[in-house]
Formats: sequence, structure tokens, C-alpha cells
Amino acid sequence: MTSTKTIPVDEEITLAQLDTDPYPIYQRLRKENPVLHVKAARRTMLTKAEDTRFVKATPDLFSTNDPSTPMKRAMWSHTLMRKDGQEHRRERMAMNGAFSPKVIANDWLPHYEKVAREYVDRLPKGEVVDLFDALSGPYAARGLAILLGMDEATDEQMQEWSQALIEGAGNFGWQDKLFERSDLANEQIHALLDSITDRHLAQPNNSAFSLMLNAENPIPKKQMYANIKIAIGGGINEPRDALNTIIYGLLTNPDQLEAVTRNNDWDKAFEEGIRWVAPIQVSSRVAKEDVEIRGYHIPKDEVVMTIQASANRDEDLYQNGEEFDVYRTDPGPHQAFGIGPHLCQGNRVARKAVGEIMLPILFERFPNMRIPDLDQVVWKGFGFRGTTQLPVLLA
Ligand code: HEM
Repeated sequence: MTSTKTIPVDEEITLAQLDTDPYPIYQRLRKENPVLHVKAARRTMLTKAEDTRFVKATPDLFSTNDPSTPMKRAMWSHTLMRKDGQEHRRERMAMNGAFSPKVIANDWLPHYEKVAREYVDRLPKGEVVDLFDALSGPYAARGLAILLGMDEATDEQMQEWSQALIEGAGNFGWQDKLFERSDLANEQIHALLDSITDRHLAQPNNSAFSLMLNAENPIPKKQMYANIKIAIGGGINEPRDALNTIIYGLLTNPDQLEAVTRNNDWDKAFEEGIRWVAPIQVSSRVAKEDVEIRGYHIPKDEVVMTIQASANRDEDLYQNGEEFDVYRTDPGPHQAFGIGPHLCQGNRVARKAVGEIMLPILFERFPNMRIPDLDQVVWKGFGFRGTTQLPVLLA
């Protein structure tokens, strides 16, 4: 395919800037350079919604198998996230039963509600508490442990493993120290899975691990373990960060909180929260052949980065996209859960766990919650983004 334009190259944007606050940069890129090779990220960034959608929805042209990422090294195996076509489908389907609406409703939601009440009840009323540590992280960890079938793991273990695997998978500097931490997580996860295999074989159930183990035509054990690990790496941060973002959005917009509470619009608050600050901000795809986007020539093997964080604020789709507005007149569809064959497998369960269960329980228990000092709220992240500190007065 021929094209008139070559991709411009940026040498000024830094990873530190993106980590601190990428949104002003994306706003500028959408206007001036929607297709831009950013040297610091070593990728061609796509910031317009139409382009990110095109890439993700066209797997024939764009592969998820980006060989330049350290994910395989960090997870000790190729996970389903980096596979295409039939191979990807087979592995995804192996645990799909655990994510079906019926299983979510019958098997997981009763547990989640119990955990949500218990974790909210143990929060100290009248005190300032960092919800990141005290609620959002542990709740996300417990929900995932239940769904995967590894109830034996503690919340602390799940969170440490998740962080270690994510940092390993993002270890583009190939630092030994980060891989040592992810290696330890791999060892501990493998040991736990080995130790609970007999239980799941003796008592088959709808958890992801049990369904994979008891399948008629099971995928190799190495792949079961790999995909449990990608779920651990990808299933804790996002519900945790989504929850914190939505709490922040509502507490800083009391009129919206009042309306959401009155109308029971927690599902709307959830969607707006993850549109506003997408917990997974970016994804990578590799061009399988020469292709053209917005008149630019994307050569075969070029790694393009779809910035869903930016797509979700695109002026073509949203007025005041930079604002948190639960009652916006242009609510969607956002791209926070991705698009196409790799659409987030956990999207339904995350919507329920956070939007339907945790938010109403938390705001019912602490209707006068507030953030005493906005300066104490810390936002961070280029690949994954959320508040790393959310001190709230529980009232
Ligand atoms: C608000 C919460 C969540 C958000 C915003 C989110 C976002 C995403 C996104 C954007 C992707 C696609 C990445 C890509 O296209 O390369 C993805 C994939 C995935 N997510 Fe989520 N996620 C969330 C929660 C969860 C949970 C709770 C689980 C597990 C219980 C989960 C499991 C997965 C898996 C297994 C994949 C890989 C799917 C595949 O490659 O076929 N996610 N997620």
C-alpha cells in the first residue's frame, strides 16, 4: 500500500510526563499529531477514537503478538493476550464459562456482596482512611481469587503477585531486579496452583482454574497457569483503580453524587468513571502488513499503541470529554474495555462487582464521605492509571 505521508517522530515527550499526567499531551496530539511515533515509548501512538477502534477491531491487519514486550519473560510463558486467531480463541474459551452472566449471577455475586459488606464494615467511621489500601485493593483481590478458584491466596499475596507481574511485563529496561520479583511471584503462584489442583479435580466448579482443569480437551497446563497469571496481572488493578476513580469523581462532584444516589445510577457512574480515566490506558498491536491510517504509512512490523485513554476523551465523540459527567448527553461507547477479539473478558464481572455491588454499599454506609485534602490524592500511570493514594474521611 502506498501513502503520501510518513509518520512524524517526537523526541520531546517523556515517559515521566506521561506517567504524571498524559491527558494534556493527548489533547494536543489529537489536534496536531494524531499519528505520531513517540521515541520515549518506542511506538507509534494513535490518539483518535476512530483509529484506535480500527486497529483493535481489525485483527487481520494487527497482531497482539508484540515480540518487543517483556511480558513472556515476566509470565514465564506466552499468555492469551499475546495470541491471535484460533490459538487465542481456544485459550480464551477454556476459562470463558467462569465469566458467563449466569455463573457471575449465581456463583460470584453472592460472594462479592458478602465480601463488600464485610470489607466496608471494617472501615473505621469518623477517620481519614486511604481507600486504596483499606478497601479497593483488597476487594479487587478477593473477587479475583474467588473467580479464579484460588481462594487460598490472601489479599496481600494476590496484590503483590499482581504488582510483580505487571512490573515484570512492563520491564522494558529488562532490569534483573524486576524480573527477580516477578519470578518469585511465578514460583509462588505455581506452587499454589499445584497444591489446589486435586481439590478442583475432586470437586469441579465454575472457577476459571477448575473449568480449565476439568475440560474434556484441556489446554496444556503451562497455558492454564499462564492465563491465570495474566488474569492476576490484569484483574486487580483495573477494578481497584476504577473504584477509586469513580469515588473521586463523585466526591468532587457532589451534585452528581446526589443524583446518582437518588436515581440509583451506579452503573452510569461506573461507565463514566472508566471513560474518564481508563484503568488500562494503552494497548499495543503490531502491523502484520503495510497499512495506512489517516493518510500515514504504517510499515509492516511497526508497533502501534492504541491510546484508549485518549479515545475516550476524543472531541469527535465527547463534548467536555476532560470532565467527569455521569449525566453527559454523549455517554458512549467508550473503549475502556477494549474492542474486538481481546475485549476484556472480565468486563461483565467488573461492572457488577464495582458498579452494582460496591459503590451503593459504600455510599450507603458513609453518605457524608469526603476528601479532606485534594492535594493528598495522587494520580499516576501511563500504561495503567488511577489514584495511588485516596485519603477519604469516612462519615
Ligand atoms: C474496570 C475493570 C477492568 C478494565 C477497565 C479492564 C480493561 C481491559 C482491557 C482494555 C483489555 C484489553 C487489552 C487489549 O486489547 O490488549 C482487557 C483484557 C482482559 N481482561 Fe480486563 N479489565 C478490567 C477488569 C478485569 C477483570 C476483573 C478481569 C478478570 C476477572 C479481567 C480479565 C481480562 C482478561 C483475561 C483479558 C484478556 C482478554 C483476551 O486477551 O482475550 N479484566 N481488560
